[in-house]
Amino acid sequence: MKTAPDPQRIVIFDTTLRDGEQAPGASLTMREKLDIAKALVALNVDIIEAGFPIASPDDFEAVKSIAQTVKGPVVAGLARCVDKDIQRCAEAVCAGPKPCIHVFLATSPIHREYKLHMSRQGVIKQAVASVRYARKFCQEVEFSAEDASRTEPAFLAEVVEAVIDAGACTVNIPDTVGYAVPNEFGRLIEGLFETVPNIGLARIHVHCHNDLGLAVANSLAAVQAGARGVECTINGLGERAGNCALEEVVMALRTRADVFGLKTGIRTRELYRVSRLVSRLTGLSVQRNKAIVGANAFAHEAGIHQDGILKHRSTYEIMRAEDVGIEEHELVLGKHSGRHGFQNKLQKMGLALSPAELERAYTRFIALADRKKNLYDDDLLAIARDEISESPAVGLYALEYLHVSAGTGTIPTATVRIRRGKETLEDAGTGDGPVDAALRTIDRITGITGHLLDFALQSVTIGQDALGEVTLRVQFDQTILSAKAASPDIVDASARAYLSCVNRIALRNAAVKAAAVKPARKESRA
Ligand code: KIV
Ligand code: ZN
Repeated sequence: MKTAPDPQRIVIFDTTLRDGEQAPGASLTMREKLDIAKALVALNVDIIEAGFPIASPDDFEAVKSIAQTVKGPVVAGLARCVDKDIQRCAEAVCAGPKPCIHVFLATSPIHREYKLHMSRQGVIKQAVASVRYARKFCQEVEFSAEDASRTEPAFLAEVVEAVIDAGACTVNIPDTVGYAVPNEFGRLIEGLFETVPNIGLARIHVHCHNDLGLAVANSLAAVQAGARGVECTINGLGERAGNCALEEVVMALRTRADVFGLKTGIRTRELYRVSRLVSRLTGLSVQRNKAIVGANAFAHEAGIHQDGILKHRSTYEIMRAEDVGIEEHELVLGKHSGRHGFQNKLQKMGLALSPAELERAYTRFIALADRKKNLYDDDLLAIARDEISESPAVGLYALEYLHVSAGTGTIPTATVRIRRGKETLEDAGTGDGPVDAALRTIDRITGITGHLLDFALQSVTIGQDALGEVTLRVQFDQTILSAKAASPDIVDASARAYLSCVNRIALRNAAVKAAAVKPARKESRA
């Protein structure tokens, strides 16, 4: 017997791997997507939107492999209201046990006139046909009315009624351009509940972008008006100003349960860990004062606050750091820790390394433990992630040796040795500074030229001996990539971060070459 859904339960639909990955510079490899999907399972999200299968062969493979691998959440794939998109999406998501096909079509007058050149009736006809077609492949079909917040409310209600009649189990109301404000958006949702006769047959989701910084506020207004699904991303990752931040909406619902009377299934103690994983893999840093997962979110600097906290936590704290998984800079392992303890700790952090990666990471860990008194979770995460992204099985180039000489009155010079499979490549070069010399030399060796757009340096943990974490944004022709790497030496960290971008370009070039042999078309993004 099918039980009725709990009316107080908010479904968390995570789109970090689809909408989030559309953030400039955030492109992820298949392995990285799988690691994030596994972390989302541990977080207990209800739905993982794994990608847009028609967009490229890589997207297709990633969605298929996530659908086959993850156990628990529904795995959704995105498709335009076009038969070939839906077929491709079905092929990927139906490879797993809990598929969902998510079709979308714009409904607003601006999109109808300038993008689609379609009438209202044309939009309804195509939306209905696509939902019916998607239902041939699986039960779970979601329809999104793109740019819903700028659609005439009465027409939006017609679309919603029609797609529910056609078999959509979920209807999503996106604020695609982040234009809505909370009262207005809440009212739009309320209006749908008042006017769409069959609305009880579907679950209403919202999907808010953050262009005015209102994505979380709009999502909360929508759930108060009856929406029961929130589409969101870890760290609010996404195009332009990003999407509704999962950690913020979840903790707002939990902390202010007195106001909302709603709950999610999220294991909030996993939030910090997933946030760090996503930040490290995408190379996109979390701002220090970011709500819930920023480095300062639970730090009390002012004396008056510290005094209050010591007297009673509730004076200045509305949530406990432990509840989102932030432990006091937990001291983890020392230089006498064995391989087994090291591997166990990495597994707890959600990282499964191959024996070769583990060996390299352990060697680096021991070397670091010799130089650095205290080693924390973040140190381990930084080391392990570097070794994964430098793995010859994943990337192509791995840094073996780096020597830089620089100083007042000398020309900064770098000598770099890189391993590529069994090959060892070496060269020396100069630059404007030590980092520039190292990166230019890497360009000479690899034959791939990048243009550095951004360089940021942050300490991974506390103390004078803390690792330096470098975040780079690099442009290669039309592509912008971000990456992070950590090391006690910032030039070494810069070279590693740069190489991880170079490896992605090398992998993409190799894929393009392979596709030239067997043609495949890259579709435009949603
Ligand atoms: O922002 C948007 O409208 C989307 C849809 C494809 C759901 O991402
Ligand atoms: Zn979106």
